[in-house]
Amino acid sequence: MSDISHIAVIGAGTMGSGIALTSVLAGKQCTLIDVQDAQLSSAHVYHEKQLHKLVAKEKLTSEEAAQAQSLLTYTTGMSDASLADWAIEAATENVDVKKKLFQLMRETFRENVVLATNTSSISITDLATAVEGAEHRVIGMHFFNPVPVMKLVEVIKGNNTSEATTNATVELSEALGKIPVPANDFAGFVSNRVLMPMINEAFHAWEDGVADPEAIDSIMKLGCAFPMGPLRLADYIGLDVCRDIMMVMYNGLDENPKYLPNQKLVELVEAGKLGDKSGAGVYDYTKE
Ligand code: 3HC
Repeated sequence: MSDISHIAVIGAGTMGSGIALTSVLAGKQCTLIDVQDAQLSSAHVYHEKQLHKLVAKEKLTSEEAAQAQSLLTYTTGMSDASLADWAIEAATENVDVKKKLFQLMRETFRENVVLATNTSSISITDLATAVEGAEHRVIGMHFFNPVPVMKLVEVIKGNNTSEATTNATVELSEALGKIPVPANDFAGFVSNRVLMPMINEAFHAWEDGVADPEAIDSIMKLGCAFPMGPLRLADYIGLDVCRDIMMVMYNGLDENPKYLPNQKLVELVEAGKLGDKSGAGVYDYTKE
């Protein structure tokens, strides 16, 4: 049983809010940090809605839901979480942004605190260069969306991650009700190395006229038992996120052209069609 009791989550987007909810449902105190108030407000709304749903489904009593909500704090100041005993960075998938955050995390949190990242593709060893002398405390803790539902945490050690950090990450993942599985520090790790080229290929199939998006998704759902078809899943993950992960793999895996994002995917992102979060992507969600 992990003795971690207060988790700081940096970044209140989809993944950060999901990690925060999962943390408080496991009885941990959680401080959710974001530079944007609007992002924190959306996270708060999401938490209230999910806790309300759990009460309606009789999976939680209203007292337990209120207790979970009371464990959550929302703030724009990382220093408010300086006493946290674990930190998980879940900011935008950009190496420079993450490195700046890691420097700040190192300055903010106490000396023994693990500095985990929910990066979906960026090298852990590279990120750790931002915190010289504390590289042993940096580790990949890759959650999956929707975090409260998906069981996996992909655990990625950097070249200098210590055994103690790895063991503690496994322990905390289990305490959060997850199943930790190790992967090595290659761009995209295992999950996105396999998932993203499949999603990208679905865009190629659409572009080539093999079938329309509905048919591509139905074929993969009915024929391969996917809960969502690849194009629907791309909208769910965020088309910008899919494009960015493909680019991290392209740059990190010898510029192999098989990792270049499909042109249709890129065009949708450039048109601001990012999937569920923007109301439209491959599909239109404005009518829902
Ligand atoms: N937060 C919390 N709980 C959620 C949720 C959310 N955002 N979305 C759904 N749920 C819960 C529901 O409340 C419901 O709970 P219940 O079983 O207790 O009633 C359960 O999940 C099932 O939800 P629904 O009945 O609404 O809908 P579905 O049965 O269609 O399931 C789904 C929805 C779980 C999203 C399912 O479609 C699915 O598993 N899709 C694939 C998701 C996937 O592949 N995720 C990985 C993405 S890749 C990634 O995250 C890595 C990154 O690096 C890109």
